[in-house]
Amino acid sequence: MLSRVLPTAAAATIALLAATGAAAHAAPAFTPGAPGAGDPALPTYGNGGFDVAHYDLDVRYQPAIDELTAAHATIRATATQNLSRFDLDLIGLTVDAVRVDGRPATWTRDGWELVVTPPRGLRQGRPFTVDVTYHGVPKGWSIPDDSGERPPTQFGFVPTDDGAIVLGEPESAMTWYPSSDHPADKATFAVAVTVPDGLAAISVGLPLGHTTRSGWTTWRWASRHPSVTYATTIAIGRWRIDSHLHHGRPTIIAVDAALGPQYDAPVARTDEIIDYFETLFGPYPFESAGAIVERQPGLLAALETRTRPIYPSDRFEDTNAKYAVETVAHETAHQWFGDSVSIDFWYDLWLNEGFATYASWLWDEHDGFRTVREQFNRFYDYPLDFPFWTPAPYDPTDGDAIKSSNYYRGAMALHALRKQVGDPVFFALLRTWAAQHRDGNASTEQFIALATRLSGQDVRPLLLAWLSGPVKPVNPDPPPTA
Ligand code: TRP
Ligand code: ZN
Repeated sequence: MLSRVLPTAAAATIALLAATGAAAHAAPAFTPGAPGAGDPALPTYGNGGFDVAHYDLDVRYQPAIDELTAAHATIRATATQNLSRFDLDLIGLTVDAVRVDGRPATWTRDGWELVVTPPRGLRQGRPFTVDVTYHGVPKGWSIPDDSGERPPTQFGFVPTDDGAIVLGEPESAMTWYPSSDHPADKATFAVAVTVPDGLAAISVGLPLGHTTRSGWTTWRWASRHPSVTYATTIAIGRWRIDSHLHHGRPTIIAVDAALGPQYDAPVARTDEIIDYFETLFGPYPFESAGAIVERQPGLLAALETRTRPIYPSDRFEDTNAKYAVETVAHETAHQWFGDSVSIDFWYDLWLNEGFATYASWLWDEHDGFRTVREQFNRFYDYPLDFPFWTPAPYDPTDGDAIKSSNYYRGAMALHALRKQVGDPVFFALLRTWAAQHRDGNASTEQFIALATRLSGQDVRPLLLAWLSGPVKPVNPDPPPTA
């Protein structure tokens, strides 16, 4: 009789309680965590059902055979649902053992999902520790140049002439450690890298020293700031290292020892660039800074690895030296926008790339290269069928994770916003954005809301016209007429 007034599910529950005589608190169901973080562009990246707090990695790399001969990851996480099992992301490599809270767990591999079943379910809200022991030859991607004129494009875990380097976005962490490889799940990160004597391993954060034993040296790095997984790295090789204090903060710049001193010049300006950006965006967000310059030809691009961006030296070879410094400004700006304030979904990537590109235009103007107005018009004048116009940056239904419109339309959107609200409000907005979301994650909707609040204007239509619209908005800052 109750079933006539209750929805079916509730009626069924009551029937079940009546049949089993169960008390009001039925045992909570334990179900598998989702194999992805729920990103529409990259549905299998990251994982559901838990939240990682910390990665503690201990890896040994033997360059002669390009192998992680012994590797161990200790992952501290908290269940966000009652978990019967959960996934980590790991490409290739051989898993030797998995433990959850010290007890042996079973696991299976399915593509890059490492599916772990703990001996007992993990209750929602419960902190737990996963230990994964693994080894093997890590995966990198190498795309040959069709013309045969250039070296193959490389990313992921890339062996080099004197070691190896990890760089990749959206994926790179899963090529060398089991992870929730999606920016929505930031975590602190510590690493001990053991390499043959004579080589050094550089990573992100602060150096915790190195120790040598029987022909191997272990290099330790850690940071107390949470990181997106794609901004973690190890860079193994022979380096020329400049380590100094800047305003009491360590700057550590590692340049491939095989490179001539001319490659030191662009990254030597890192401190100066940080000082300038601090006047615009507020305090530098991390406890150390620096750069890694790698000689390996063909590396895909520079990448904003946290505290220590990676610069492929062949990207510094343009005849105009200003371009190399512009790249340093771009990756340095990512420390605020992308690495400290991070995205929750790949469709918000213009919040990283548009901001870093705009910051590099601000730097160029400050450094006496091109003015922001010139940069804006250079891009604005390209016809609408140019790739950086279409597909538009902000489109949650577009499966393209990384597209050039995020860089140039994103930067043009910021310039249009600046022209609309004026410099005082625009720069207060950038500073407030960086401060409010420091060490966190934020979305386009939150940015529009903050811009609306600080300007007192309805800037949504303007921003969406630049970020999502099908046509070129009217030029808010045309070049002066002759
Ligand atoms: N985020 C990088 C930048 O703009 C570009 C990038 C995207 C990249 N994917 C990558 C670099 C993979 C190296 C490898 O600064
Ligand atoms: Zn960038």
